[in-house]
Order: sequence, then C-alpha cells, then structure tokens
Amino acid sequence: MDFSIHHTASPLTEAFADLRSDCLVVGVYPNGEFTPSAAALDHLSGGLLTRLTQRGDLEMTAGKTLLIPSVSGLVKAERVLLVCVGAAEELKPKRWKSLFSESMNALQQRGIQRVDFTLLEAAPQGMSKDQALRHAVLALDEASYRFLDFKSDKTSGLPSVQHAAFLAPADDENTLEQALQQAQAIASGIELTKNLANTPGNVCTPSFLAETAQQLAAQSSLLDVEILERETMQQLGMGSLLSVAQGSDQPPKFIILNYRNAADDTATVVLVGKGVTFDSGGISLKPGEKMDEMKYDMGGAAAVLGIFKAVAAMRLPINLVGLIPSVENMPSGGALKPGDIVTSMSGQTIEVLNTDAEGRLILCDALTYAERFNPAAVIDMATLTGAVIIALARAPSGLLGNNAELLQSILQAGETSGDRAWELPLWDDYQDLLKSNFADMANIGGREGGTITAAAFLSRFTKAYPWAHLDIAGTAWNSGDKKGATGRPVPLVMEWLMTRVNN
Ligand code: BES
Ligand code: MN
Ligand code: ZN
Repeated sequence: MDFSIHHTASPLTEAFADLRSDCLVVGVYPNGEFTPSAAALDHLSGGLLTRLTQRGDLEMTAGKTLLIPSVSGLVKAERVLLVCVGAAEELKPKRWKSLFSESMNALQQRGIQRVDFTLLEAAPQGMSKDQALRHAVLALDEASYRFLDFKSDKTSGLPSVQHAAFLAPADDENTLEQALQQAQAIASGIELTKNLANTPGNVCTPSFLAETAQQLAAQSSLLDVEILERETMQQLGMGSLLSVAQGSDQPPKFIILNYRNAADDTATVVLVGKGVTFDSGGISLKPGEKMDEMKYDMGGAAAVLGIFKAVAAMRLPINLVGLIPSVENMPSGGALKPGDIVTSMSGQTIEVLNTDAEGRLILCDALTYAERFNPAAVIDMATLTGAVIIALARAPSGLLGNNAELLQSILQAGETSGDRAWELPLWDDYQDLLKSNFADMANIGGREGGTITAAAFLSRFTKAYPWAHLDIAGTAWNSGDKKGATGRPVPLVMEWLMTRVNN
C-alpha cells in the first residue's frame, strides 16, 4: 500500500469540486456536527450529508461508517465514506487508529482502490499532526497486511486499497511530508518484524536471521552487521548461550548490528532481542498443544531487526547497536539437561533447573557483551515468560529494569504510541528465589512471579548500565483465530528513540 499527502487549496468546497477520487472519507461527530470536509461536501451535495445523518443512516458511535455510493451535484469523487469519529475528548490513540481500520473494512468490501482521507482535520486534541498521521499510516498498513509467503495462491484475499492520500491544508506541507516518510519507515519495520515472526522455524533459523541482518546492512551505508559464529562465542566465554544451542543441529549465531549516524561522542543505545527460532523447551519438553507457536520465540529478534530497518530508512540521527543471540532450543542426545551447570560470559555460574527457561540463558551473555559499548541505555525485548500473559494478559508488554528514569520514558512512549507497557517490581526481595545449592544462581525461581524472577535473573548481568527489559510474550503474538505476529514492540521502541532525538 502506498501513501501520499494531498495538499488542498482553501476553500474546501472548491478543492472538493475538483477532486477526482474513488472514495473520499469524511468525519462526522456523534452530536451531528460536521468536520470542515463534511461541511464542504454537504454544501456541494445540496445538504445530502445533513439528510442522511438526521435520518439516522449513520450510527453515531466511533468507527461506524456509511458508504454513499454516489454523490450528485458538483462533486467528482465517485463515492463518499462517512465515518463517525466519536467525541473529540475521547479520541485516544487506540480509537483514532480504529477509525482508519474501520474505514478500511468498509472500503475493502467495495473493492475500492484509491482513497482520500480528510480525517486528519479531526485529529485528537493534544496529538500532533505528525503523530496523528503516523497512527493513521500504521493502522492502514496493519489492515492491509497479509502473510502469503507460504500460500500457493498469492492473489486471493489481497487488500483492494492500493493507495491512500491524506488531505491536508497547504500550509502543513513540509512537516507532514517528513512525518509521512517516517511513518512509512516504521510501517516497513513492523512488516519485517511480522514477516519474520510468522515465518516457520524450518525456514527462519538462526542463519536466516543472520542473513536478514546482512541484507539490511547491504541496503544502508549507515549500518554494519557482524555475525559471530560458535567458535568466536566460545572464545568470548558465552557458555550460557552456547549451552542452549548444543541440542540443535542449527548452528547458533550472534548477530551484531551497528548503526552510526551521530557524532562519535554521542552515547550508544543498545537493543537486545531474544532470537530463539524455535523453543521446544529442550529436555524440559513443552506440551504439544500450541507448540507450533513457539516459532515466534524470536519475536524480540524480529523487533530489533524491524527497528533497525525503520531507523535506517528514516536515517535517524543516533548511534544504535543491536545484539541478537540466536539459537534453536531442541532436545537431543547432546542437549543441555536439568542439573547441568554452565558458566556465563560474566563468569557467574548457572544451574539449569529447567531447560525451557532458555531465553534468559542466551540473553545474559548478550547483556554482558553489551557492556563494551559503554551504553547510555540497554533495552532488551524478549518473549521471555508465559507468566507475563497470566499477569497482564495481552494488552501491555511487561516492563522491568534498574533505572526509574529510563522506565518512565518507556512507559510514556508506550502511551504516545498506543503500544503500551506496564511496570512490574524488581525489588531485591526477589533475588533470593534464584538461589542454587550448587552454582551462583539457578535459572528459574519457581512458579510464583515468573516474569519478575526472569527479570531478576537478567538484572545480575546488567549492573554496568541503565537497563530496561520488555517481556513481549503476550504482545508480540495474537493467539486464536487472528493467530500471527503483531509487530510489537516496534511502535513503542521507535517512539522512544524518536523522542530521544527530539530532546
Ligand atoms: N518462550 C517461552 C515463553 C513463552 C511462553 C513465550 C508462552 C510465549 C508464549 C520461554 O522460553 C519459556 O518457556 N518460559 C518458561 C519459563 C519457566 C520454565 C520458568 C515459561 O514461561 O513457562
Ligand atoms: Mn522456553
Ligand atoms: Zn523461549
């Protein structure tokens, strides 16, 4: 789907009289008030919108639509889609986005290909025009996303809408063009994240993720990628990471992305993504039901790659490093066993009481590796615990860390982007749960507070820098009939990075 900004001359009545469009989307408030575009159309069509809304043809709740198949009078647009935008004071990111997805549903049903949205004029109060546009683009892109790589028929069920233009007054010109470019960059990152997480484990292996990273680097002069192989990881002492990989025939990869587009003395941000391309549980084998979904256990890695794609596409002026420890967690004769003790890159020893708590075993070595960048902040994202879905359901990502200011800024970015996180405590109280009789720590803390004990484990490797952990087990994936990747937390982290640049 492609997007453009269409600058309208004022008055709108003149602009609309000339506008040739498959469909013009205009907003109406639930109290029957018109947006400027609706008012202009009403005027041109001799009061058609007034008659329809007074007759009750448009249900006056947010997101309800009414397609007007033809508008006579001076209007050249083939069709008009009326959308109830809801009460202005209740327009939060989520509802704002839903106006666009609901519009898409209506447009899709009629096979409409080119559409002009006037809804920016109804953008929520307190939301910048840039932000409103970004939400709109992401919502439309989301609604038109299909994953057909593994279907023989790649044509049926395709979205009809090919092109969306946003009508905006001519004076907004410069900023909106840039905002559109940035929104499309984020959308392309989200698409990559979804595609990777949806790709099955027999294709999306650690090597596949490494190749994907290399392709990104080939497309941007600002991005370098280095892949560490098993031998190098051995030399570095990444015994914890390698212990997870040893049960699989797939070689582990440690992917390093280095994006530099700021002065050398600008502090680096490091993003770490869990890249378990399939999590069978290992010898602590998972039950069979829904085990297929464990192909998305590289959702953190996919998000990091998506973020780098977006950052490079918009040439964000930052220094950013991405670290992706990538393995497959399988049972075999050579696999890691419960009771095994491994030595992490930090030197700390770990008694593996459950081989299904493998995410933390690969992340801890990546978090130690991150120290060498002397980072201003490290954010890891990982489908780490089922417990986060029990605690928070699938609405927010779980957020834990060691620096209140960093956590606060991430929570704020979540609110702004609509891709929210929620903080869980990480007090010292929890550290005792990781006690081991034989090693420095165990890799599990028992049934209680599973998300917290996982983060408590990671916190033992992140003392050298401000650190935040996003547990995305619930948010990176939709279960049920909408089964598939969501692209989260790309919107959240992009918002956080962009805010950093602007402050
Ligand atoms: N990848 C899983 C976590 C997960 C579960 C992600 C469900 C998405 C949906 C992780 O490696 C895991 O198995 N965690 C265990 C930890 C336990 C053994 C302490 C879990 O959550 O059960
Ligand atoms: Mn596991
Ligand atoms: Zn896992």
